[in-house]
Amino acid sequence: MRILKYPHPTLRHKSKPVTRVDRALKEMVRQMFDLMYEGNGIGLAANQVDLPYRVFVMNLESDPAAADQELAFINPVITHRKGGAEAEEGCLSFPGIYAPVHRSEKIVVAAYSLDGKELAYDLSGLHARAAQHEIDHLDGILFIDRLSPSARLAVKQALGELEQQFHTDRRLGLIPDDQQIAVRLAELEGVRT
Ligand code: CO
Repeated sequence: MRILKYPHPTLRHKSKPVTRVDRALKEMVRQMFDLMYEGNGIGLAANQVDLPYRVFVMNLESDPAAADQELAFINPVITHRKGGAEAEEGCLSFPGIYAPVHRSEKIVVAAYSLDGKELAYDLSGLHARAAQHEIDHLDGILFIDRLSPSARLAVKQALGELEQQFHTDRRLGLIPDDQQIAVRLAELEGVRT
């Protein structure tokens, strides 16, 4: 498992709900937490690690020692939104790129836990922001899609560099073509339904 960087096509994949919480899913979540900590991130969505499942992990401490702060959201749905706030965001799929994003200030998220329990999370502040960023990922939406024109302009060059790196990696055979990626994601979706 590794973290995909923009503009990898899986980052644009809209994930389907997971139908059961089994050992393979729990193992996947564990690996996602570990990768997230390696990258010093506070959240990571399954399509960032090339998997088409509606799952994301979050730990605002970004520290494996703070395991009590670990949250895994399975099939998350935002059921309520309140207020608005703008703050700078980054993303493990966009190393070195930060930009202000407008989000709802408070949200309620319904999701299944790793125990298979349906829970409602009342989130505000950074928790609410991170959850909205990650749920966007599951719909194939990236934080750069939500920038103001001026913020977009400010990151344009850095995005261009990531795009160039992606095309170089692809020419080197390090990244499969779009068709191969689509077939693999469809196969994985079939396995879990
Ligand atoms: Co992200």
